[in-house]
Amino acid sequence: MSHCLVTGGAGFIGSHLAHALVEQGWTVRILDNLSTGHEYNMAAFRERVEFVEGSITDAGTARRCCEGVDVVFHEAALASVPRSVADPYESNRHNVDGTLTMLIAARDAGVKRFVYAASSSAYGDNPELPKTEDMRYAPMSPYAVNKYVGELYLSVFDQLYDLSCVGVRYFNVFGPRQDPQSQYAAVIPLFITKALAGEAPVINGDGSFSRDFTFIDNVVHANICAAKADHPGGRTVNVACGDRVSLNELYDLIQKHAGTDIPAVYGPVRAGDVPHSQADISLAKTVIGYEPIVDFATGLERTVAWYKQSQPA
Ligand SMILES: NC(=O)c1ccc[n+]([C@@H]2O[C@H](COP(=O)([O-])OP(=O)(O)OC[C@H]3O[C@@H](n4cnc5c(N)ncnc54)[C@H](O)[C@@H]3O)[C@@H](O)[C@H]2O)c1
Repeated sequence: MSHCLVTGGAGFIGSHLAHALVEQGWTVRILDNLSTGHEYNMAAFRERVEFVEGSITDAGTARRCCEGVDVVFHEAALASVPRSVADPYESNRHNVDGTLTMLIAARDAGVKRFVYAASSSAYGDNPELPKTEDMRYAPMSPYAVNKYVGELYLSVFDQLYDLSCVGVRYFNVFGPRQDPQSQYAAVIPLFITKALAGEAPVINGDGSFSRDFTFIDNVVHANICAAKADHPGGRTVNVACGDRVSLNELYDLIQKHAGTDIPAVYGPVRAGDVPHSQADISLAKTVIGYEPIVDFATGLERTVAWYKQSQPA
């Protein structure tokens, strides 16, 4: 396996993955429409990849991009719950139609392995912890439905056609280059940029809500494990650290690394926010040989350091 396509390769996760693949000697093609991704995310490896600006929803583009490819890493999506609530049709078009278009293109081009970026949002408000893959799914947003439908297509394509598929279900990914400017920004880049600017972040709720925050290097590692795994059988596995950290603990650690002492402001709980999330990652170990390679604390320290050095002087 050496030729791959990374959809969404100009985005946060896709750009880290594409960079790692290039470093490991893969020939990398990227397909991205730059809707939420940016050329500057690819700056460190732009000369070493083939970049196609286009959409995963366009069958002709998808077909051309899959030609000569062994592995498709399908990262492209409109990765936002609020955006999907505001415009469920558009969310479905990119996340469901786009995924189906890529699966068909990969099947027709004779791609050997299709790796799909799934989301822990599929578990929704099921309160059971830790989350295991055989649990009841309870999506609470159009985005969560979209990502779960992708998993179902993946499994069916694996059964029906000569296309080996596997899903990697991420839990709250964080790391350098995650966009704090986006109106849908995740909590870690928001808290870090606020702290570094000397401003108080707003914590929704009393700060006891917790998440299985997963450093980007673990997600990249999981994708590469998934590409190389023997017979994953269309299954989707949890990718996380198997632990959880509260928002208060998270903000305390960010302050420690940022060297700040600014009390957070507490606001109302956001509608639909799940109190706690934590993954059981044992199936990922069995199916794709994944185990985390960077723990939460180390990942957070590296992330704060990155935002510090990329602040405008
Ligand atoms: N960030 C997380 O915590 C997280 C958690 C679970 C799952 N995921 C999944 O991981 C993947 C990557 O997420 P991310 O956080 O890097 O988001 P991102 O927005 O940074 O990256 C998504 C990329 O897809 C591109 N894109 C969107 N629609 C497209 C289309 N129609 N055609 C071509 N390109 C298109 C965007 O321009 C962007 O570069 C997504 O599939 C997302 O659902 C992310």
